[in-house]
Amino acid sequence: MTTVTLEHITKRYEQYQDGERQVITAADDLSLKATSGQIITILGPSGCGKSTVLRIIAGLIAPDSGRVLYDNVPLAEIPAMERGVGMVFQEGALMPHWEAERTIGFFLRLRQREHEVPERMARIAQITGIGLEQLLSRKPRQLSGGERQRVGIARALARDPRVFLFDEPFSNIDAKLRAQARVELKRLLHAFPVTSFYVTHDQVEAIALADRIVVMRAGRIEQVGAYRDLYDNPINLFVATFIGTPTINCFAGRAVDGQWHGENFGGFPIRGDLPDGTPVTAGIRPEFVQMHREGMPAVVDTVTPYYAERFVLLEVHGGGEHWQISAPPDFQVEVGETVYCTLDPDGLLFFDTQTGQRIG
Ligand SMILES: Nc1ncnc2c1ncn2[C@@H]1O[C@H](COP(=O)(O)OP(=O)(O)OP(=O)(O)O)[C@@H](O)[C@H]1O
Ligand SMILES: [Mg+2]
Repeated sequence: MTTVTLEHITKRYEQYQDGERQVITAADDLSLKATSGQIITILGPSGCGKSTVLRIIAGLIAPDSGRVLYDNVPLAEIPAMERGVGMVFQEGALMPHWEAERTIGFFLRLRQREHEVPERMARIAQITGIGLEQLLSRKPRQLSGGERQRVGIARALARDPRVFLFDEPFSNIDAKLRAQARVELKRLLHAFPVTSFYVTHDQVEAIALADRIVVMRAGRIEQVGAYRDLYDNPINLFVATFIGTPTINCFAGRAVDGQWHGENFGGFPIRGDLPDGTPVTAGIRPEFVQMHREGMPAVVDTVTPYYAERFVLLEVHGGGEHWQISAPPDFQVEVGETVYCTLDPDGLLFFDTQTGQRIG
């Protein structure tokens, strides 16, 4: 299996907007290592550079500076035929006139290993548990979006890839099918362990598939970790708000005498070295807002049940601020009622309001 290393990768694009030249840094000094067989997901908002990074790992575009290594060999020195990259794009990118069977077997035929095609196909079909056989005689236009993506994955797998790259392969298929496709892919990657990078902006997908999640913003890596690390210990406000649904609550406030004080809540100890008046944002996830007989009164604006996740989400307001609370699924409350809130200090995260960096 293959270890993939990115060393200080930078890639800039020139764009012209209203006749003016702009330089966009799609990848900004990125370094990252995927050890053999690991699945890494790259998560980030639209335009942050995910596809660019994936294409650089694939060797489809060259970085302006920095380099990619497969098992310590620079990618630029590996002939294209020997790179062994299996890539699945958002749109499938299948040959329009080819039946699925021909598409999947293309690489093996090319290598005079045609005899391996039926067995490989049967194995992939068996592991995914889907009727791949039924799809083999069809052309792309006779396949649904989800089926096309499965054929795309089977094709990539049939190449014996050293590195597997996925660029939002399931983003165009409906939620139920997407969940199913995710499970199939997970099974496949377990059976054929290949070092993989998976680009998505869907957290659920990232959590389901990844060993490690890379969070990107504007060409930079903000944080790398398991989902739990990112959720419990975000290094800045961007990661804190990007990771987690429902979103973390943020309260503006200031440091006073080693304590944080906001509009409605306050008195929580924070780092002692902050000058009084330093703007500090307190973040707390909805499950750490508690409701008691006493506390900060807040009026319930909406009540949204999340049956599958077994909680109800309350959106409330009080004292000029809005926040969200997650309550047990059987919690009874009506819109317009008043609830009394306190913040569980165990769930509080503090950020420097100016820089967004975590400070406690
Ligand atoms: N060929 C190109 N020429 C000029 N600019 C480009 C080119 N490709 C990408 N960009 C710009 O680089 C930035 C990163 O693009 P990229 O496609 O990597 O983002 P992304 O994270 O994959 O976004 P999405 O989630 O929307 O797919 C964007 O601002 C994009 O406009
Ligand atoms: Mg993209």
